[in-house]
Amino acid sequence: MAETVSAADLQEYCQLVRSVMEARLDGRTPLAFTHTYGCQGNVSDGERINGMLAQMGFAFTDSPENADFILYNTCAVREHAEDRVFGNVGALKHVKNRNPKLIIALCGCMVQQEKVANRIYQSYPHVNLVFGTHVISRFPELLYKTLTGGKRVFELSQADNSICEELPVRRDNQVKAWLPIMYGCDNFCTYCIVPHVRGRERSRDASKILAEARDLIAAGYPDITLLGQNVNSYAVKNAVSSDGEDWNFPKLLREIDKIEGDYVLRFMTSHPKDCTEELLTAMAECQHTAHHLHLPVQCGSNRVLKAMNRHYTREQYLELARIAREKMPDISLTSDIIVGFPGETYEEFQETLSLIREVKYTSLFTFIYSVREGTPAAKLDDPVTHAEKAKWMKELLATQEAIAAERCNAMIGTRHRVLVEGVDARDDSLFCRTGTNIVVKCMGQPELVGQFAECEITSAKNWVLQGKFVSR
Ligand code: 5AD
Ligand code: SF4
Repeated sequence: MAETVSAADLQEYCQLVRSVMEARLDGRTPLAFTHTYGCQGNVSDGERINGMLAQMGFAFTDSPENADFILYNTCAVREHAEDRVFGNVGALKHVKNRNPKLIIALCGCMVQQEKVANRIYQSYPHVNLVFGTHVISRFPELLYKTLTGGKRVFELSQADNSICEELPVRRDNQVKAWLPIMYGCDNFCTYCIVPHVRGRERSRDASKILAEARDLIAAGYPDITLLGQNVNSYAVKNAVSSDGEDWNFPKLLREIDKIEGDYVLRFMTSHPKDCTEELLTAMAECQHTAHHLHLPVQCGSNRVLKAMNRHYTREQYLELARIAREKMPDISLTSDIIVGFPGETYEEFQETLSLIREVKYTSLFTFIYSVREGTPAAKLDDPVTHAEKAKWMKELLATQEAIAAERCNAMIGTRHRVLVEGVDARDDSLFCRTGTNIVVKCMGQPELVGQFAECEITSAKNWVLQGKFVSR
């Protein structure tokens, strides 16, 4: 069956689930506990799943113990993420013993792997419903089947590469909004499971994205992030407008930027191989675009980059970073780094360190290589022990900390326009973020959350910048 369902089918199944739950709970409002692991793409899917749950009549709870329905939206990118899910799902057995009517569901990248789905089927009999990444829009139908069919439902069918535009969204956050522009990935980096579980690249219709952006801005969201595994290849794989116009990512950025309002426009993730000068120019010229570029380099050695199938060299990457800084002198660059790719030597790892020193990233997401079954890298010899890789990781973190400390100290006394994102419950201070994606903590009233303000950096303690609000 196709991935997508019509709005009418969706409505019908939502209504059916609503009626079944009403009878099952004697009219009490059903409570859902949902949790999403992993990247923002998954968070965005989770918001659509919650939207469907709301349409099925569910309210939400933070406690699995109180829930009538529990769902984990899982991630497969590293083994550690999967282990956490197995642990948490195992623990639900006791919750289910206490509440036999409880329905437990799993979805997302991890369960799209056949081996994982089989393990859940065999060893976790208390899980009632498992559905993969290609059938999210069929969630109400699958839940209805679970509730009425008397047996467990496992639906992992593959994509037909269509996109369902009919899903309701229940956003988690009132400041930051996620706006998916494309799904899937065609890059097949040799270490990565994502293309295997998320399917081929497909881009959303530009008019739908623009309409959603307009709605978000009208609703007052001050911070919008365009999402895709590789936003730079937006519209490369499929036509995205019915009027026959050609689109690409820089054009999309410019069109969204024309929407009036006080908001920051961000995007992630950019693959360096597709990051063009045209994009950097658009970023520099757009009014709303944050001067922040998350440009995952993964490592600094040309031999390892080739083995990773990344399609750029260290030199090409450094040139991109140089052009980005030339066009936007205040730009903040961030990156993902994998330590200990199979066969990486200590000397090659040192090339990553030298690249980091050269680029001077604002911050890094760092990962020790994790074997993903079914990927080409899983078949490579991996002679370096995990303990050794952990030592390399320490060295990497120390290098980055020194760079961050230098940057933090240089920022003391400077002024920035920040968005107040939330309250730190530990000390009642406010989390604020500069357009360049740097977090500053300021004392202030919680009513400021969601607003832009001017702040001056006053100190840098343990890599955290402190500031005070000042008038413009
Ligand atoms: N092991 C470690 N890190 C990985 N990533 C993706 N796959 C793996 C893996 N097998 C990291 C990459 C990517 C980020 C989202 O996760 O750095 O950019
Ligand atoms: Fe994975 Fe590479 Fe695709 Fe990113 S670009 S999702 S690292 S395959």
